[in-house]
Amino acid sequence: MVAVAILAAGRGTRMKSELPKVLHSLGGRSLIERILQTALEIEPIRQIVIVGYQGKQVEAALQHIPNVEFVEQTQQLGTGHAVQQLLPHLEGFQGDLLVLNGDVPLLRPQTLKVLMESHKKHQNAVSLLTAHLPNPKGYGRVFCNDRNIIQQIVEDRDCSAAQKQNHRINAGIYCFNWPQLAKVLPQLQANNDQKEYYLTDACNLMQPVMAVDVEDYQEILGINDRKQLATAYDILQGRVKERWMAAGVTLIDPNSITIDDTVQLSTDIIIEPQTHLRGNTAIGSGSRIGPGSLIENSQIGENVTVVYSVITDSTVQAETKIGPYSHLRGNVNAGKNCRIGNFVELKNTTLGDRTNVAHLSYLGDATLGERVNIGAGTITANYDGVKKHQTKIGDRTKTGSNSVLVAPVKLGSDVTVAAGSTVTEDVPDDSLVIARSPQVVKPGWRLKTSED
Ligand code: UD1
Ligand code: CA
Repeated sequence: MVAVAILAAGRGTRMKSELPKVLHSLGGRSLIERILQTALEIEPIRQIVIVGYQGKQVEAALQHIPNVEFVEQTQQLGTGHAVQQLLPHLEGFQGDLLVLNGDVPLLRPQTLKVLMESHKKHQNAVSLLTAHLPNPKGYGRVFCNDRNIIQQIVEDRDCSAAQKQNHRINAGIYCFNWPQLAKVLPQLQANNDQKEYYLTDACNLMQPVMAVDVEDYQEILGINDRKQLATAYDILQGRVKERWMAAGVTLIDPNSITIDDTVQLSTDIIIEPQTHLRGNTAIGSGSRIGPGSLIENSQIGENVTVVYSVITDSTVQAETKIGPYSHLRGNVNAGKNCRIGNFVELKNTTLGDRTNVAHLSYLGDATLGERVNIGAGTITANYDGVKKHQTKIGDRTKTGSNSVLVAPVKLGSDVTVAAGSTVTEDVPDDSLVIARSPQVVKPGWRLKTSED
C-alpha cells in the first residue's frame, strides 16, 4: 500500500518570479503536473499535494487530474515541516509514503518502481534516490557505508569543505515506512544554517536508510532557477527527439526544432528546420512539416505538407497542402486533398475534400462543400460588429477574385461568383451571381487641364 505526497509549498525564491516555482512550464506542462503524472503511474491509493505559497493557484492548475488531495502548509518552514502537515491526514495509515520534491520534473516512472522494489526487498525504514553528480553544488550530500546504508545526509550549506568533496547527492525522492516516519517527525529540530525543519533529518533519525542510485542522473535534476529550467528543457527535448528518430521520423536540423512530449508522430514524417509541435498534436505518416511552422493542439492526417504556416486547434485530413504563409485557427476542419495557400487565414471553417483556397483570403465561420474553388482575395465578412455570422458554400462553387461574402449568406452548389462581387443575398444552385456596379466607358473623355 503506497500513498504519494508531493512537496509544492515553497515559493522557489531563486526563480525570481511571482509564479510559484512548481507552476513554471516545462515543454507545455508545469513542473508539478509532470511529477504528479509520473507518481500516478505507480497507482498510489492516495495522492496528496502539499501547497503553501499561492496554494490556490497550484490547486487550480491541477483541477483536471482526478482524486488529488491538497494539504496546506501555511508557513514554509522546510521540507520536514511540510511532511509534518500530513500527520493528521495519514493517521492510522500503515503503508509506505512516497515523498517527491515538486521540482524534479524529469523523473521516470520506471525509476520510482525500482526505488519501491528495493525498499520492499530490503524492508528499509527509508529508501531514497541518490545520484553521483559531476557538479553537486546546492544538493544535500549522502554519506553511506559500502552496502549503501546511509549514515548521514548533510545539506550543501551545512557541509564542511571536506564533506563537499562527496558527489553523491540526495535527489529529493524518498520512500518511507509511514508509521516509523510518523514517530520521528515530531522530533525534528531547526538547528541548521537555514533554521528550517529538514526532511533529511528525519532520515537521520531512522534506520535502516538505504540509498538507491539512479542510473541516469539527468532524471533527478532539481529545478531551482531559470538556468536549470532551460537545462531540463534541453534534456527533455533530447529524450523526445531521440525517441521519434528511433521510431522513424526524420528531423532536419534537430536543434532548431521543438516537440512537446505530448505530441504523437508516425513513421516517415519529415520535420524541417524551425518547426515547433505543441500540445495535443498528432501527425500522420508521410507528412512533411516545415520549415518554419507551428502546430498546436491539431490533428494532421497522412501525406500532408505544411510550409511556413501556423495551425492551432484544427484538423487537416490526408494529402492536403498548406502554405506557404497560411494560418488555420480555432476549429478549422480541412478535408482531404485540399490546397490552402499563400496568405490565407481560416477560422472555425470546414472545407470539403478537394477544395482550394489558394491566395490571399480570410474565411471565418464558413462551411464549404467539396471541390470548391475560392478565388484570390475572397473574404467572408462574418462579423457585423456585434455578432459572428455563418457563410455556406455548396459543392463545386467558384468565387471570383476579390469577392466579399457578407454573412449570413448561402451560396448553392455549382454557383459562380463574378470577380469583385459583394454578395449579400443567398444564391441558388447552378447560377452566376454578379454583384458589382457595371463598368462605364466614356469614349473621347479627357481630364480637363488648366489651359482649357
Ligand atoms: C532538497 C533537499 C536536498 C536535496 C534537494 C534535491 C531538504 C532539506 N533538502 O533541497 O537534500 O538534495 O532537495 O532537489 O529536503 N517545500 C515545501 N515546503 C517547504 C520547503 C520546501 O513544500 O517548507 C518544497 C518545495 O516547493 C520544493 C521541494 O519542497 O518543491 C524542495 O524544496 P527546495 O527548497 O527546492 O529544497 P532544496 O534546497 O533543493
Ligand atoms: Ca530543489
